[in-house]
Amino acid sequence: MDKFVIVGGTPLRGEIPTSGSKNSALPALAAALLTEEPVTLKRVPRVRDIRTMQRLLVDIGSKADVDGETVRLETPQIVCPEAPYELVKTMRASSLVLGPLVARSGRARVSLPGGCAIGGRPINLHIFGLEQLGARIHQAHGYIEAEAADGLRGAVVHFDRITVTGTEDLMMAAVLAKGETILRNAAREPEVVDLAALLTRMGAKIEGAGTTTIRINGVEKLGGAEHTIIPDRIEAGTFLIAGAITGGDVAIAGCIPEHVGALVSKLQQAGVAVTQPDATTLRVRSSGKLRSVDMTTEEYPGFATDLQAQYMALMTQAEGISIIVETIFENRFMHAQELARMGANIRLDGRQAIVAGPYRLTGAGVIASDLRASASLVLAALVAKGETVIDRVYHIDRGYEKIEAKLSQVGAQIRRVE
Ligand code: EPZ
Repeated sequence: MDKFVIVGGTPLRGEIPTSGSKNSALPALAAALLTEEPVTLKRVPRVRDIRTMQRLLVDIGSKADVDGETVRLETPQIVCPEAPYELVKTMRASSLVLGPLVARSGRARVSLPGGCAIGGRPINLHIFGLEQLGARIHQAHGYIEAEAADGLRGAVVHFDRITVTGTEDLMMAAVLAKGETILRNAAREPEVVDLAALLTRMGAKIEGAGTTTIRINGVEKLGGAEHTIIPDRIEAGTFLIAGAITGGDVAIAGCIPEHVGALVSKLQQAGVAVTQPDATTLRVRSSGKLRSVDMTTEEYPGFATDLQAQYMALMTQAEGISIIVETIFENRFMHAQELARMGANIRLDGRQAIVAGPYRLTGAGVIASDLRASASLVLAALVAKGETVIDRVYHIDRGYEKIEAKLSQVGAQIRRVE
């Protein structure tokens, strides 16, 4: 397994380009199942989860041509409407094929995701929504089987709680259903809006994406389309924190500043200078002296749970006490133990993490546990005294394209060891 060896202490300086959003590309790839015409996606990040989704689509019946960050998918017919456990257990987002498969072929057999490091990750809301649209669901042997021989019909679906991929799954099921579907308490994430933009280009009739109520009028068929994936706001946020924690001066290029608005506000409250030199660039400058600022994760446009671990690493260097509350997932503090091994002072109390600072971090051998926890260990290592070795960096490769190359470009002493 690959490792990262990082020597901390260098303030980062320079410009980092933002890749396409993993969490927008995943549903966009699944949307290609909805038509037999070609769908071409640009700015697709070359990360493990994308390769996993491509493999799943090919097993289902798609032809995939990958040329750098451009992926062309064509699904003349659904050969095998299944998402097997071997794939789903490695990537929960495989459940995104559920809606498109039922909509296109009237059938789907998808493994239940099972838990992952950060929580139970059930898909009961996806299933509830499909039942509302008329699918018959049968659960057995760790799989759910959905069936809608005479197609889906529009309905009102009120989500018990906000779910990003649940909203995306149901949007993709509804675009070919007979009649109107209304999704209430829908997710407002930019990735939901990006998916709606792609589906609209394919001929879907969708209103309200980005608000809590999305109206979809089903159509007979969808056509092909070309679409450029939005930049990855979590990658951009991770690198903003990298600039802040190292006391550097970094420009994040090719991003959408408003997508990281909640983080920018927290950084400014912490005493970090964040400016916007142009429409798609954010510049972060820090002296390294930071004030502690409390933070609670919330659905978009609140502070993203996917940036919580990275923010915790930053707060270990801030003056005072910060209270971090994780409201989205039940077990998303694994990084705290590893940060503590590097010298951080963090006390966990249920959904709260109490971080006292500043505490000097020293390099150590640490283990990555999930995608974003791994990113927080990289950030801590960039400011720690001495050498940090991070094991199991395949977690990082799931969601960050060439992170060590991007960080080295701005002066980080980081190298990958096979
Ligand atoms: C998406 O996951 C993202 N993944 C996650 O990013 C992100 O952390 C999460 O949204 C929250 O923003 C992708 O977009 C591929 P949810 P998702 O459904 O859709 C509960 C990363 O690091 N829930 O919004 O799976 C669930 O357990 C990943 O890139 C149900 O109870 O998250 C969680 O507590 C990690 N039943 C909460 O809702 C359901 O049917 C929010 O989950 C669905 C969800």
